[in-house]
Amino acid sequence: MKIGSIILRDKPLLLAPMEDVTDFMFRSLCKEFGADLMYTEFVSSDALIRDIEKTKRKLKIEDYERPTAIQLYGKDPVAMREAAKIAEAAKPEFIDLNFGCPVKKIANKGAGAGLLKNIPLMLDITKEVVKAVNIPVTVKTRLGWDENSKNIVTIAEQLQDEGVDAITIHGRTRSQMYSGEADWTLIGEVKNNPRMQIPVIGNGDVNSPQKAADCFNRYGVDAVMIGRSSIGRPWIFKDIRQYLETGVAPEPISLEEHVEIIKRLLKNSVDSIGERRGILHTRRHLAVTFKGLKHFRQTKIKMLRSESIEEIFSILDSIKEDYKNSISPLYLHNNDEQ
Ligand SMILES: Cc1cc2nc3c(=O)[nH]c(=O)nc-3n(C[C@H](O)[C@H](O)[C@H](O)COP(=O)(O)O)c2cc1C
Repeated sequence: MKIGSIILRDKPLLLAPMEDVTDFMFRSLCKEFGADLMYTEFVSSDALIRDIEKTKRKLKIEDYERPTAIQLYGKDPVAMREAAKIAEAAKPEFIDLNFGCPVKKIANKGAGAGLLKNIPLMLDITKEVVKAVNIPVTVKTRLGWDENSKNIVTIAEQLQDEGVDAITIHGRTRSQMYSGEADWTLIGEVKNNPRMQIPVIGNGDVNSPQKAADCFNRYGVDAVMIGRSSIGRPWIFKDIRQYLETGVAPEPISLEEHVEIIKRLLKNSVDSIGERRGILHTRRHLAVTFKGLKHFRQTKIKMLRSESIEEIFSILDSIKEDYKNSISPLYLHNNDEQ
């Protein structure tokens, strides 16, 4: 697959942009486990042009994780254009425009998925950004605003005409938020539209190697993007790759290995951004990663309340001891809505 001049292997697996999750510490682990392309968390164009320090930190990309895109959101074409120039200076491989975020404080103000209600403005923003930067520009969006306006087939054509280099489609409408099942049939229609030349990336509910293979085979998408199922489980990319290449389902990893990976994520975060912030950044993973272990509630509460890396390490070691010879519980369930 090719995005602009960036060449990715056949059937690439992408790590979805996720606020408060896909910081560079987590991305580095996903890269190690084979994610082919990653995105920063979404970055507010308004905050970027106001030079807000916390927002600028989100632009940081380490060389070893490349290719990585910076994702921007906003509803003002001029602000988006200026923010895109700032983002380009941070040297991502490309810029992704968020036209899919469903949360009220963004979509109801006309940004993110809110732009699905104002396609001319969506296209205007796209045009301005494509004109302003010299790197590829991609878009991530949903099927439409609601059940009565699932017009992604037309929108995708229009975005392509504005010069975007790839489109990612999450198979839900804005109204669905994260409920129900992602509908991949419309994603497949976009891919099979003879007018579409740019890569089409499918997203939504990919939570196992078999599901990923099914999405490639049935809908013909150029790439599959994985979000929630990577939280607390960055090795999902390796599992999927193995299955795609061999057709053999991977052996579940041991709980011991699982704990060691989580310890690395925590240590990496604490080393990079300090103990307090590093722990905060890792909590989202800690909250879900051992889901399915029996009698785990109290341990989980203790782990999530802890403010010291030493204490969390010792809790993690006790999990290894208490659940000796278990497989990772993540193989026992599929992901729930978040
Ligand atoms: C915690 C969280 C944060 C997210 N943040 C973003 C974001 O910043 N930008 C974006 O385009 N999508 C964001 N999403 C949506 C995901 O990228 C993805 O489209 C969605 O989770 C569906 O994919 P999945 O079923 O593989 O999780 C977020 C999702 C979650 C769960």
